[in-house]
Amino acid sequence: MRLVLLAAVVLLMLVEDGSGERTLSRRTRRELASPLHVGGIRDPFGSYCQRRGGCCPGRDDQCTVPYLDTICYCDLFCNRTVSDCCPDFWGHCLGIQPPFIGVCERNGNRFFTGQTYKENCNLCTCGTTGRWECEQNACLMEADIINNVNRGNYGWKAANYSQLYGMTLDEGIRFRLGTQRPSRTIMNMNEIQMNMDPQSERLPLYFNSVEKWPGKIHEPLDQGNCAASWAFSTAAVASDRISIQSMGHMTPQLSPQNLIACDTRNQGGCAGGRVDGAWWYLRRRGVVTEDCYPYQPPQQTPAEVGRCMMQSRSVGRGKRQATQRCPNSYNHHNDIYQSTPPYRLSSDEKEIMKEIMDNGPVQAIMEVHEDFFVYKSGIYKHTDVSFTKPSQYRKHGTHSVRILGWGEDRDFNGTPRKYWIAANSWGKNWGENGYFRIARGDNECEIETFVIGVWGRITMEDMQSHHHHHRRRHI
Ligand SMILES: *[C@@H]1O[C@H](CO)[C@@H](O)[C@H](O)[C@H]1NC(C)=O
Ligand SMILES: *[C@@H]1O[C@H](CO)[C@@H](O)[C@H](O)[C@H]1NC(C)=O
Repeated sequence: MRLVLLAAVVLLMLVEDGSGERTLSRRTRRELASPLHVGGIRDPFGSYCQRRGGCCPGRDDQCTVPYLDTICYCDLFCNRTVSDCCPDFWGHCLGIQPPFIGVCERNGNRFFTGQTYKENCNLCTCGTTGRWECEQNACLMEADIINNVNRGNYGWKAANYSQLYGMTLDEGIRFRLGTQRPSRTIMNMNEIQMNMDPQSERLPLYFNSVEKWPGKIHEPLDQGNCAASWAFSTAAVASDRISIQSMGHMTPQLSPQNLIACDTRNQGGCAGGRVDGAWWYLRRRGVVTEDCYPYQPPQQTPAEVGRCMMQSRSVGRGKRQATQRCPNSYNHHNDIYQSTPPYRLSSDEKEIMKEIMDNGPVQAIMEVHEDFFVYKSGIYKHTDVSFTKPSQYRKHGTHSVRILGWGEDRDFNGTPRKYWIAANSWGKNWGENGYFRIARGDNECEIETFVIGVWGRITMEDMQSHHHHHRRRHI
């Protein structure tokens, strides 16, 4: 309460800045000054004329009392042209109800015109009529979306996340995703030929990279309010692939920050970027580890990105070396990791599965809808809980994630439900420890539309020979 009052006073001081100069001697100034009570009377129950010792008859330019950062008048002239009367002028001098006063109620407390509180993502202001006037934004955490998902038979459960509470849906889409759709040329890129024989290829009902390659699959990170899933998903898939292909000789967690701050050509940093650009950078320049170049989530303006603190130069045979020390001064391992060109997989569920099982996690682009933010557990499918709401409640944006495996469940009436196991980049407290499951085989949220695999660049020194058995076409 006291804080709110203080905030109102500060606000008032800003609003009233121009009228602070009115002087006692120049009545014309007084008439020209803006009215004191725009938007309602501040401190309506304060004692002014009363404390002064009474009111003045007629016009008396000396009949003033300090009021906030200016003065107010207690003469009978004060309400003649524009009002500069003290808040208690009407009550104390005229014995009538003061005009322009709004008192709003909230939880049994009284608030005055201009005071505010925040209801989830919306600012509510006490209006002059004594009504709270609230913004009408769709919020990222809407109680009725959460409740309707949890009451329905959607196959997944929703939760209210404190780290996302108070954001608007627009802010969620603007700051928590961050992958631009690949350009038309990239989208039209040929898929690799897999020569898969559906008869002979027996894919298990359940597969999880975490279990097949223990210690080589990296845990989900948290991008915070930085729309850089393009960098997080790319770094995560490359990290896993390098660890798998080096057979655990190297298990680097590659630095998304290195990509965000340094891969700036046609990339938007924390305002979104392209995965093909990120792969280009990983291939040609390479990045260091997360521990060497730690993630710095933006503090103030979400789109702000720190300057690039890591460069590399060629040392022959396609290898590169860092030219700077680690930004983390406690880490002295500034080795540069590179990838080979990425390749696009077909949208065929079985081919994606085979690729994951043979070679490790893949990167996928997906459309994130309003209900995805509240996902807590189960097999996600975009629901219809917002369909009857105004359009500002139904929004989506493009994101990228890492798919690590798959499985199959049965719902309450025994129908099998196939799913992908994927890692998000919203921290480990979101979803199933940072992971989520999503319906498989129906291109849910377009997750099967654009799927990418890659080889780490592992040389003979890094490990012994490694062979792969698909013909692949490179990006
Ligand atoms: C004082 O100002 C209020 C608000 O504009 C107005 O309703 C009222 O009539 C004024 N009173 C006088 C005496 O001018
Ligand atoms: C969600 O969490 C916030 C705080 O994190 C809390 O203020 C709010 O009441 C919660 N909303 C619901 C619907 O549980």
